[in-house]
Amino acid sequence: MSSLIELRTVSKTFGSGSGAVHAFGPVDLDIARGEFISLLGPSGCGKSTLMLMIAGLLESSSGEIELEGHAVNGPQTDIGIMFQDNTLVPWRTVRGNIELQLELRGLPLADFRERIDMLLESVHLEDFAGRHPYELSGGMQQRAAFCQAMVHDPKIMLLDEPLGKLDAMTRESIRSDLQRLWMQQKPTVVFVTHSIEEAIQLSTRVAVITPRPGRIDRLIPIELPFPRDFDVKNSPEFIEHERTIQEIFHGYGVI
Ligand SMILES: Nc1ncnc2c1ncn2[C@@H]1O[C@H](COP(=O)(O)OP(=O)(O)OP(=O)(O)O)[C@@H](O)[C@H]1O
Ligand SMILES: [Mg+2]
Repeated sequence: MSSLIELRTVSKTFGSGSGAVHAFGPVDLDIARGEFISLLGPSGCGKSTLMLMIAGLLESSSGEIELEGHAVNGPQTDIGIMFQDNTLVPWRTVRGNIELQLELRGLPLADFRERIDMLLESVHLEDFAGRHPYELSGGMQQRAAFCQAMVHDPKIMLLDEPLGKLDAMTRESIRSDLQRLWMQQKPTVVFVTHSIEEAIQLSTRVAVITPRPGRIDRLIPIELPFPRDFDVKNSPEFIEHERTIQEIFHGYGVI
């Protein structure tokens, strides 16, 4: 597999002089096409900072980031981004919000009708296309936001704790929708989470990040077959990965 995202000695320091905060790096990382890689690390270690740098929304202090061999020098419009707080606008319906992503990119709506239907169906929102965000639960809003982030068929998706604010049961169910969508569409996903279990269940690799300034402590390949349902958590391999990562975080003193 060729590498789609390349980070070369990427670091970020905010501010300067005595007020400088070395937030992240230096980090080297190659992410292959079609991977689902999780960034797992304590609060404040620079995960969101890295996501913003990959998206070209924040400049790195040193190093280089390349997407498909092209240096990131400004905002990247062909990627899909999703954060903990969704960006659904209240005055548009679910379908209208998804279409907004196409309008902003100047893409013809007519070419995407079937894709929108397919995405809505795969997250069980087909009956809510005409509803407004305030008529949906928090979990349904995040499902709509997934459709929004994927509608233009991005090759790269940056998901920064998209399930962070949801209750455990909703989280579990959206996790399996997300996994199914990733298996169907095969985007390359960079996924930030605080949940060890979530990272192991969803990922092809887990990058364990140190406390600030965040560096990659360990890159753990997760070789369990997909799809991974609820039961995968009882497999010896899963439990072993869980223990390994817990021990690393114990070592940092964060759990
Ligand atoms: N715009 C900014 N100006 C100054 N410092 C910042 C800025 N953004 C982030 N930082 C600092 O950089 C560090 C990393 O922040 P970041 O938000 O990337 O962490 P994180 O790993 O995403 O944390 P969390 O898990 O809590 O979301 C923090 O110490 C934060 O205070
Ligand atoms: Mg963050």
